[in-house]
Amino acid sequence: MIEMSLAEVAEVTGGRLHRATGTERVAGVEFDSRTVGPGGLFLALPGERADGHAFAAAAVAAGAVAVLAAREVDAPAVLVPPAEPRGLAAPNPLGNSYLAATDPDGSGAAVLAALARLAAHNVAVLSRAGLTVVGVTGSSGKTSTKDLLAAILAPLGPTVAPPGSFNNELGLPWTALRADTGTRHLVLELSARGRGHIAALCHVAQPRIGVVLNVGRAHLGEFGSPEAIAAAKGELVEALPADGVAVLNADDPAVAAMATRTRAAVVTVGRSPDATVRAEDLTLAAGRPRFRLVAPQGSAEVALRLVGAHHVGNALSAAAVALECGATPDGVAAALSAAGPASRWRMEVVDRADGVTVVNDAYNANPESMRAALQALAALGSGTRRTWAVLGRIAELGDASATAHAEVAATAAELGVDHLVTVGPTEYGRGRAVADVAAALDLLRAELEPGDVVLVKASRAVGLDRLADALVQEREPVA
Ligand SMILES: Nc1ncnc2c1ncn2[C@@H]1O[C@H](COP(=O)(O)OP(=O)(O)OP(=O)(O)O)[C@@H](O)[C@H]1O
Ligand SMILES: [Mg+2]
Repeated sequence: MIEMSLAEVAEVTGGRLHRATGTERVAGVEFDSRTVGPGGLFLALPGERADGHAFAAAAVAAGAVAVLAAREVDAPAVLVPPAEPRGLAAPNPLGNSYLAATDPDGSGAAVLAALARLAAHNVAVLSRAGLTVVGVTGSSGKTSTKDLLAAILAPLGPTVAPPGSFNNELGLPWTALRADTGTRHLVLELSARGRGHIAALCHVAQPRIGVVLNVGRAHLGEFGSPEAIAAAKGELVEALPADGVAVLNADDPAVAAMATRTRAAVVTVGRSPDATVRAEDLTLAAGRPRFRLVAPQGSAEVALRLVGAHHVGNALSAAAVALECGATPDGVAAALSAAGPASRWRMEVVDRADGVTVVNDAYNANPESMRAALQALAALGSGTRRTWAVLGRIAELGDASATAHAEVAATAAELGVDHLVTVGPTEYGRGRAVADVAAALDLLRAELEPGDVVLVKASRAVGLDRLADALVQEREPVA
């Protein structure tokens, strides 16, 4: 962040100084008292187990310059006024919604509101000096696309992007405050579980370039309908300025239709022949897409290291942004072709020494990412290797749950997946059901043969990453 005095922080956040002179220099924010260092402002937030206010003194002892708090603490602080408690659903601190039912007095909401103002100030000042802010949203592929973008924008100039999936009212402003006067590009992932969430995040960090990847059924239960999901994702393009650019997926009708909801220029991407930035002559080599990137600026050959045809749309979206930021088609193609998986548990492919290939896509699941992963599994099997889909339940689908699970099972059958194993309580209605991770591991140990390909995937809460890790550790991976 641009360095500020604590008095300026108080002014921007609407707080008051507590046990501080105001001359203290603030150079960053942290929410973990163990990682906060000199110049750091510690955010006192409620967590699942403890309240950050209890760690105020410890954070300052560890080097923090002060604390951003909603209640009096035993340390120098900016105290912000209380806010209405907001009970947002999921206790997932750095992906999707942060505030769990752990904010009874509204102190979490108050600190987050102050953090939002601080981040908005930082982004506004830096944007006036030439920072480009890129926002990425969609039901699936935000993190994958953000990682590709970080890789292709970095050669053009210093780029800040979130680690992992920091995409909510904590992770997004935290990331926005990593940008300072040297930063050229700020890449942000925006998530939503309801109307208004993305609009609010755009308020925290006003993007000039916005990418909408797709409208799927992730969190359909909370949204209520696919139309409500499309309305929410479109808030990103509505927030773009007239001199901005909306990058829209021409292959997804719900996304293409957002062209009418923005003042910004529209760049379409996809496999459609009329897309502005498109993939031609797409083939898969061991599940990895190869295509010609064709854009108004020129064309270049791309060979992705990522597995799965679904990454083509992600790569094209990232390419369109980079071209907009001044990259050349050759530069984009080279960076895309060099990028490996940067965030864990998303289509991580490991070839074991015994010839078994494990595909760890256990990070999360929704019906569309399940379909994408099954297609990638079939491509990896290429009709010659035995394929296994080891799947747990897809959460948060509401009334659509039974139909969506049945559809996934049908897709696996249509794609010719040889074995479907379902783990824990699920509604797939086909395949062999096992009770838990341990039972799945026993079954696979007994039945896997050299040459088999195993996909492991479920919603995050099922914890199938443990199964994938165990499968990988069974045998030494090929270096
Ligand atoms: N364009 C896409 N279409 C369908 N599935 C995709 C796409 N891109 C990635 N996936 C798959 O979706 C899952 C999640 O990917 P990723 O983490 O990139 O998405 P995300 O949108 O950031 O998810 P979250 O909402 O959990 O943050 C992975 O299994 C990945 O392989
Ligand atoms: Mg993500």
